Amino acid sequence: GLRNEEANILVVGLDNSGKTTILNQLKSEDTRAMDIVPTIGFSVEKFKSKSLTITAFDMSGQGRYRTLWEQYYRDCQGIIFVVDSSDKIRMVVARDELDSLIKHPELAIKRVPVLFFANKMDLRDAVSSVKVSSLMGLEDIRDKPWHICASNGLTGEGLHEGIEWLTEQLK
Ligand code: GTP
Ligand code: MG
Repeated sequence: GLRNEEANILVVGLDNSGKTTILNQLKSEDTRAMDIVPTIGFSVEKFKSKSLTITAFDMSGQGRYRTLWEQYYRDCQGIIFVVDSSDKIRMVVARDELDSLIKHPELAIKRVPVLFFANKMDLRDAVSSVKVSSLMGLEDIRDKPWHICASNGLTGEGLHEGIEWLTEQLK
């Protein structure tokens, strides 16, 4: 279990999927940013989920920065993978990135829980979390516990269900 009540969580997914927006929602109201800009490189955010203090590594999803993700595989206890549910075209790219993540030697050796947010559920073009799950090939993930939640990063809908699942996995 987590004796020190702290966990490092790696937050990945394509650019524009809503990672920074989601993390901003999870912070206490008084520390929230007013506006969100595309992440350059990565940034570190802290928030609490019950008694657990989470340090989130909010990675940039832009192609040229994706090579940074693997530098954090070794030290993370959990992963949040954010998918834009309305971007069916780029979900193929997201699936490729997920495949490389799952197969990466640093992660292949550990049973790290992976939480998926099927984000932007509010958009007209958004597909269901079940559909995101099949388009992303999540059933093929064998050696890691995973969970998917439909979410709305703008309102916070669906976020706490996901974070609670992740927190439970980290105990
Ligand atoms: P990078 O830092 O470039 O990797 O992107 P990111 O994944 O951090 O995305 P970011 O949080 O910057 O959000 C991208 C855009 O999507 C912003 O305009 C957000 O306001 C918007 N957005 C985030 N979540 C949602 C959502 O659930 N619904 C809608 N409609 N828009 C959202
Ligand atoms: Mg960002």
